[in-house]
Amino acid sequence: MTTTETTTAAELFSRTLRLDSRPNPYPLYEQMLDLPVTEMSDGSWLVSRHADIKRVLHDPRISANRLDPNAPDPGEAKAPASFLVQDAPSHDRLRGLVMKEFVPRVIGMRDHLEELVGKLLDAHLSDGPGQLDIVDDLAYPLPVTVICELLGVPQEDEPIFGEFARKLTRGLDPVEEPDEAEIRELTQVRNALIDYLNGLIVEKTRNPGDDLLSAFMPADPTVDRLGPLDLRATLALLLIAGHETTVNLIANGTLALLRNPDALARLRNEPELATMLVEEVLRYDPPVQMTARSTTADIEIGGVLVPAGSALRVMLAAGNRDTDVFADADQFVPDRPNNAHLGFGGGVHYCVGAMLARAEAQIALTALSRRLDNPRLVADPPPYRENAVLRGPEHLLVSFDRLRK
Ligand code: HEM
Repeated sequence: MTTTETTTAAELFSRTLRLDSRPNPYPLYEQMLDLPVTEMSDGSWLVSRHADIKRVLHDPRISANRLDPNAPDPGEAKAPASFLVQDAPSHDRLRGLVMKEFVPRVIGMRDHLEELVGKLLDAHLSDGPGQLDIVDDLAYPLPVTVICELLGVPQEDEPIFGEFARKLTRGLDPVEEPDEAEIRELTQVRNALIDYLNGLIVEKTRNPGDDLLSAFMPADPTVDRLGPLDLRATLALLLIAGHETTVNLIANGTLALLRNPDALARLRNEPELATMLVEEVLRYDPPVQMTARSTTADIEIGGVLVPAGSALRVMLAAGNRDTDVFADADQFVPDRPNNAHLGFGGGVHYCVGAMLARAEAQIALTALSRRLDNPRLVADPPPYRENAVLRGPEHLLVSFDRLRK
């Protein structure tokens, strides 16, 4: 690794975090792909290539602990960090307890998802020209309704926890100069969310329902369960993941379709294309652009020796454009074969909500392609949210000639 590579990696990474890169960070990722695994000026390492990312996500000597030695004291937290950032064995146990309840509830949800998407679009039925904000009218309310129903969280409280989720996801973005006041504020928001969940747990203990929250507190004391603190951390994780990720998959998918009219026309005529098409959105414009890890031993990644105790910046969205793996990586190919994208991560932390998010996006995009006549983007690029990690449009205005039943 040369000094130039170190400077280039740091500069590219820093530029991806800047707001003006949000509409199109892909040229920066393309340049990252020219670099080997590279140490940056802050001591963290940039990992961009597909093979190196896969290695990082699958090596048990690489921890999900985000390790940030320079992070200021966050203040007193009312719940521990979620299993997203834990390793075996605690990660595996907590994840197992969640999957056991989550997966059976998601299987068989398709009809209900069709119904929800139908209702959201019916609210804008129009025989003449009109406009939709894909984010506010469909991409956000759909996953939020679904995660609230699944967890047993009252949707009328959405203004409260929606705001928490929004603030907390900003905290996922890497910061170049950690700001003590901001970090303490994040802890306060997280504590406020935990207080809100405490109220709900009391309520569900009295009146259990057919929901995940109740299922996480089985009446039988001999059944292995989430302890009280892990229960709160897990609920917060699921609530936030349900709020802040699928919205971007549906919005990014709509954007890709409207920028690629052939793909839109194909989806309208061949709804079965939705499965492959959504995988391509997860590759081409993934809702989670990057993640982080740390090494617990000296490890060679892509021919470079990374010392124990190093923080890794794992650029999922860059790996998704790696031409060693994907032919025409910069093209949106709705029926791309062997699409080994990194959109849901990989290894033991592979996304718990993948099946749900896929189904929501497949149904939403198919419905849009069928029901909108002559849809057009009102602004291209659309305005983007500030988030660099969970990246997506703030609004996505689409005009149409008709919104049919
Ligand atoms: C399009 C939507 C989504 C995308 C792109 C996405 C992406 C991801 C990615 C990349 C990871 C791995 C993070 C890492 O390894 O550091 C992950 C983990 C996770 N996701 Fe998702 N996610 C989505 C939706 C959801 C939903 C709807 C839920 C649940 C309601 C969910 C729950 C989780 C959980 C619990 C983990 C942690 C898994 C573990 O640590 O074992 N996700 N997701």
